[in-house]
Amino acid sequence: MTDIYQNKHATIEERVADLLSRMTIEEKIGQLTQLPASVEGNTEKLEEWHIGSYLHCTGDTAIRLQERAAKTRLGIPLIFGIDAIHGHCFDNDATVFPTQLAASSSWDRELIRDMAKVTAKEVRATGIHWTFSPVLCVGRDARWGRINETYGEDAWLIGEMAVEAIKGYQGERFSSPDSILACAKHYVAYGETVGGRDAYEADVSRRKLKALFLPPFKKAVQEAHVASLMAGYHANDGVPCTADKWLLTDVAKTDWGLDGFIVTDWENVTSLYTKQKVSASIEEACYRALVSGNDMMMSTVEFYETAVRLVKDGRVDEAVVNDAVIRILTKKFALGLFDDMRFYCPDRHEVLGIPAHRDLALQASLKSIVMLKNDGILPLTPSKDLRVLVTGPNADDVIAQLGDWSFGSMQAGATDDQFHRDKTVTTLQAFQAAAKHYGFQVEYVKGADCLDEEFEQVAELDRALENADVVIACVGDTLAQNGEFHDRANLDLTGKQQALLERIKAAGVPLIVNLVASKPMTIPWIAEHANALLCGFNSGTQGGEAIKRVVFGEYNPSGKLTISFPYHVGQLPVFYNKYEGWHAQHSQHTEFKERYIDMPEQPLFCFGEGLSFSQFEYRDIALKQRVIEPHSDIELSLTVTNQSDIDGTDIVQVYFNDHFSSVTTPIKTLCGFQRVAIAAKESVEVTMTVKFSDLALVNAELEEVVEAGAFSLMVGASSKDEDLHTLDFEVTQTTTVSS
Ligand code: BGC
Repeated sequence: MTDIYQNKHATIEERVADLLSRMTIEEKIGQLTQLPASVEGNTEKLEEWHIGSYLHCTGDTAIRLQERAAKTRLGIPLIFGIDAIHGHCFDNDATVFPTQLAASSSWDRELIRDMAKVTAKEVRATGIHWTFSPVLCVGRDARWGRINETYGEDAWLIGEMAVEAIKGYQGERFSSPDSILACAKHYVAYGETVGGRDAYEADVSRRKLKALFLPPFKKAVQEAHVASLMAGYHANDGVPCTADKWLLTDVAKTDWGLDGFIVTDWENVTSLYTKQKVSASIEEACYRALVSGNDMMMSTVEFYETAVRLVKDGRVDEAVVNDAVIRILTKKFALGLFDDMRFYCPDRHEVLGIPAHRDLALQASLKSIVMLKNDGILPLTPSKDLRVLVTGPNADDVIAQLGDWSFGSMQAGATDDQFHRDKTVTTLQAFQAAAKHYGFQVEYVKGADCLDEEFEQVAELDRALENADVVIACVGDTLAQNGEFHDRANLDLTGKQQALLERIKAAGVPLIVNLVASKPMTIPWIAEHANALLCGFNSGTQGGEAIKRVVFGEYNPSGKLTISFPYHVGQLPVFYNKYEGWHAQHSQHTEFKERYIDMPEQPLFCFGEGLSFSQFEYRDIALKQRVIEPHSDIELSLTVTNQSDIDGTDIVQVYFNDHFSSVTTPIKTLCGFQRVAIAAKESVEVTMTVKFSDLALVNAELEEVVEAGAFSLMVGASSKDEDLHTLDFEVTQTTTVSS
């Protein structure tokens, strides 16, 4: 007779309970242990330590390990995690999408979901079932190396996008071939670390955690039922995330009802002892990690043996371990790993990088492009006598274009002609193909390098400039300048890039800048002197093709920034949802504004900003009710007209402000948006709903409350005051939304 846990007709609860009752303490702790398969010696530990999970498996490693796991006493399958962050990018056949920061500029919920669906299919087809994505960190300091991994600076928008991504990854049923577990990370406030220093201490109070950083995670748990959370590296207000019982157990599991599991980040448990020094020994660190609510420990090699001892010595109650094991096994059963899905691995050529997936990558790249300046030069007419000079370090650099998390541990040795090269269309390649198609001339001189101070092809450049009608300069940063361990103190263009741009300007040839970068850079010179500026950040394999389409008007750009561009690094952090009360320039002048004495207070480019070839006009903006009763959502309507003779898409944004409140609140907070496609000369009626609960603040008692009184709703094309129309309304009663 088959054991209950092996009977696929029994419920998951019955199967888990049966299996748990058969497990030794060693087997249980093994389920809580996750090791990187890429580090020598770790895969050998599979049987001895009853390992439950590996990360970073490439090639057929996952399948080979799974075969070994099937032969163990209880045959418990492994679960494999991977950083499929913007596609299953460690696999050279996979589809590489724009990074989160780039894709967020699309403000397109459906797109974010579809990208995740494709990623799930490709990941699952390689025998892996879990991605460490999406990143829900609030990206407010561009110096931080990992800013490219975020959905930008607004917590509400991050939550909206996270819900889509998680639903896309997880699908309807975990046991289907297009479903994987998602992991919302890094729980919580990781992006807020001081000075943009990765994994540094975050100086964040509980009130601020509740007001700003926890809400996207709460949405991920409650609206998208995310299967896992990853505890951040850092400490908030002195408490490392991995040692924070309040955060892990009380908030995520008890208050929100997380039914998935919590994995630590890399060596978090070891760090409690070796780096953060809140535990005086590895035993103490393991003890603290277990009792705080971490379920799976990533890459802490000491964990297995130490934890077994802690339970055997009676220091850790076995019930704590059981709870974690149940959470992990429940997901393994749900994924079908005990049944048919353990070795699921169809012919990879039927799934990875197939044309439909590549088409979606192109859509994603197109929708991610933000046009930040256009003096009328765009779109260009591709006439036969046009002479285009393509230049800049990122015109033909696959590694710079794709950005971080495309090469994994091979990052250091990755070369431009090796990885994803035949899947990727760089800007140069796209222009060369267009030149053939339309019959114009294209020349390429690299002209500068992101890293090399010496490199400059001055003579070739000058000669090419003499023969050019227009220049497409692809500048920005490269992989060595972003990602984990790559924080920057300076956000100017590096190498000879600025000199290259100035030389083009001096030659008097019209200049179109294509910013291929992982982050906002300090580019006031470009904003002032370029004729046009396009930004696609790290725009995926089809990024070059997308830029070409925008330049020639084959696609009308619609992207809008989800992150502010500072004028100067000294402005950081700078974001749209700031607070009033900065000590203004005190003077007798009537016009006294908050500002630095040596620089504007506003960023160079603001959150929500982005141009189109169309012009849109907003009118008849109306609220259905101006007096809002508790728990009634706010209904809003408006008409948007496309006044141009070209079809376009606008992203209508809605912000609110609470006039007077018991604690300080931001001057404006995003609470709604809608992508609206409008044909040339047509109008579209738009209706939108703002949720009552989204008006809540967190008061000094840490309650989420919508306070009675006057509010404004601001509707428009960006977060800039001049783009917004304001309507006032009133909330009748102070209402607790959640405690
Ligand atoms: C990163 C995580 C990642 C993990 C596994 C860590 O260094 O902080 O975001 O998921 O490694 O690769």
